Amino acid sequence: MKNRAAVLIICGFVGSVAVTLGAQATRSVNEGVYTADQAKKGEALYKEQCSACHGDNLEGSGPMPPLAGKDFLANWTGKTVGDLYEKTQTTMPATAPGTLTPEQTADIVAFMLSKDNYPAGSAALEGKMEPLLKITLDAPK
Ligand code: HEC
Repeated sequence: MKNRAAVLIICGFVGSVAVTLGAQATRSVNEGVYTADQAKKGEALYKEQCSACHGDNLEGSGPMPPLAGKDFLANWTGKTVGDLYEKTQTTMPATAPGTLTPEQTADIVAFMLSKDNYPAGSAALEGKMEPLLKITLDAPK
């Protein structure tokens, strides 16, 4: 009887560790974390709200940093999509920070990812920090 209780306790412990690990599983931005449609919506928003400063091709100029390409990736590789989302949501557009809705921010981030040739997938990028913090910004393949 005593042994059985111990086995049950151990099983419960192993189970909860497995659930915890599952919840923390990370994904890579190379796995298709946004949809092509979403990036298209993001492109339209980018043209309205960002391109005046960051350039039509996300190339940046002077104090306006690029939002795609080598220098951009040097800043962001190893961080998470959540970090990029947060930076965009809380500080951009520089003239009116905080005015993008969570969905619009996710769409624009999807567009930025598409410009570095990260693949589109079947599910949209969510406008929520928690899942985005689990998507690592690996170098593009
Ligand atoms: C009025 C000019 C202006 C506009 C409009 C603007 N930005 Fe910026 N942005 C900047 C400047 C200047 C910086 C550098 C300072 C900083 O990081 O806050 C920057 C930095 C950034 C960064 C960080 C880049 C890096 O590698 O550190 C991101 C991401 C970004 N902007 C996204 C956007 C997006 C998306 C929009 C449109 C919704 C936008 N910005 C609109 C001026 C602008």
